[in-house]
Order: sequence, then C-alpha cells, then structure tokens
Amino acid sequence: MAEKARIAIFISGTGTNMAALLYAGLLETSRYDVVLVASNVPDAQGLEIARAEGIETFVHSHKGHSREEHDAAMEAALIASETEYLVLAGYMRILSDDFVRRWEGRILNIHPSLLPKYKGLDTFARAIAAGDSHAGASVHIVTPELDAGEVLAQAKVAIRECETPQTLAERVKYAEHQLFPRAVTDYVSRPYDARYVYERVRDIALALPETHARDSHGSPGFRVGAEKSGKFFAHFSENHHGSEHIAVLVKTSGMDELLDLVEAQPDTYFKPAYYGASGWIGLILNRPGTDWVHVAEWLERSWRSAAPARLTKLHDAAGMF
Ligand code: GRF
Repeated sequence: MAEKARIAIFISGTGTNMAALLYAGLLETSRYDVVLVASNVPDAQGLEIARAEGIETFVHSHKGHSREEHDAAMEAALIASETEYLVLAGYMRILSDDFVRRWEGRILNIHPSLLPKYKGLDTFARAIAAGDSHAGASVHIVTPELDAGEVLAQAKVAIRECETPQTLAERVKYAEHQLFPRAVTDYVSRPYDARYVYERVRDIALALPETHARDSHGSPGFRVGAEKSGKFFAHFSENHHGSEHIAVLVKTSGMDELLDLVEAQPDTYFKPAYYGASGWIGLILNRPGTDWVHVAEWLERSWRSAAPARLTKLHDAAGMF
C-alpha cells in the first residue's frame, strides 16, 4: 500500500469544502494528507481553519499580477510543499493553460451542478428556472477547457417547489461536503488499485489492431497477430517476482536504452526481473500522475516492434487520415 497522497487545496472564500477535506484527511484511515492550503484572497475565511489545525498556508493576492505571474507564485508553493495533487475548493480563478497542462490529471475541482449541465456561474438559478427535479455537485478533473474534464463523482440534491437559489445552495453544500472527500480518496487511491490499472492498460492495448489478451507465466499479457502465432508486445505485472510495482512491461530497442531510461527516470521506469534481460522495461503505474498518453505511446511502439509489417503499414496509412 502506498503512503498517503500529498494534496494541496486552493480556496478563495469560506472554505467549507476545504474544511470537509481537511477533517476527512485527519482521520486515521485517510488516504491523503492535506499539506498546504493556499489562497488568492488574503482574508479568505478558510485560511484560519487551516492555520488552527497547523496546516501550512500560503497567500498570494492576484491583484496587480498577470495570470501567469500569479499562477507561478502559487505553483512554487505547491512544489515547495511536495504536493502530488491539487484540489480546487471554491477557487475563483481560472488557471492558465500551461499550469493545467503541467499538472494534467492531478487537479480536481468541485462544481455546483450536475455536469455537463450548467457550467460556469449561477448554476442554482439556472437549474430552478429550467424546472429540473434535481440540482447537485460534480467532482471533475480539471482540463484547460472550463468545467469540461472527466466527471469522477456526483451528488444529487432534490429541488423543492419553494426553492430559491440560496436555499438550494445551502443544501448542495451539505452534499458537497460528503462527496468531495470521498471522490478525492477514490481518485488518489486509483493508481494502487491493480484492477483499475489493469483495465486501463487492457483498454489501450486491445484498441491496437489485431490484439488479444493471453496469460504468460501467471501474469496477463497482450499479443498481436493470430491467436496461434501471435507475439507478446506487453505484459502486465502486479508485484511480480517481489517487485513492489504495478507496471506494464514493454519492449525497448535493447539494453542500452533500457538502462539509460531507468537511470534517468527511476520514478517512471525499472528493469524487471527475467524480462529485463531481454530488453523489456517496466513502466511504473502505481504512482501519482501517471501520464496515460505516454503509456499509450509505449504500448503502440512495443506493438509496432512485434506486429507483422502488413499491420504496421495499415496502421501508418490509417494514421495519415
Ligand atoms: C462550492 O459551492 C463549490 O461547488 C464551488 O464553490 C463553492 C465553494 O464553497 N466551486 P466553500 O468555500 O467551500 O464553502
């Protein structure tokens, strides 16, 4: 089991969601530690709550600074506190695209609507005006496009006859306080859930042409070509041969490349037992912020090295359109 994930929370206001996250994080069984609470508003009420609990705080007003300058100061605080995940809880600033890209897959936000409905502001008034039976809140991954990243979890709140945006906002907060710590817990736990990681690898591997799954020495693997004569291009490894990693093994060009990568990026790569000797490298997946595009690129490269020319040519031709 991994150590607890290190999360930072950005707030601009009352910080009740931050408080819900913080107190859930202080429970013994929590899967995360709140290591920093930061704000663009010097007197944001939530800062006091964090200070009272001895959590590090950081304040940097956005006034008089460009978006990039402000983001850079906030990011420096994240790096100094060795943050792994950033959680936005009522942070009323849009983060610059570059910032979001650097932290891709590691920023979560809570939005007070049942996304994809009602992105942006005034969500409660809009839900009431539309005659919806329910409003609610969504926790989603932050991407450069506003409120558009993958939705991880939602809580529904009934809209009553007499509802006003204020009464609805109050009840949605209750729901948010239940939802947010759970959604964050589930998200930071994902990389250590071998089934989740395996299914993700499998979906990428089996989306490549003419592939199938096949066990090898007790571990799942993926092959290209016919069922009878196919060749392995990836092996899934869960704590295999004493390794502490959940990983996918893919084929490098040889020992030089393998050793160079392991030396340069030991948090991403390792040399697996047995398979390592024949040029297979392990991509470590049980860590925060796995770059799945990178994993997909490796799987494709490994597929390419094992696939017959007939298939790689077809694949290249398809990629041209
Ligand atoms: C919440 O309603 C959340 O959905 C939105 O901002 C509000 C923050 O409230 N993103 P609080 O500061 O956590 O009380």
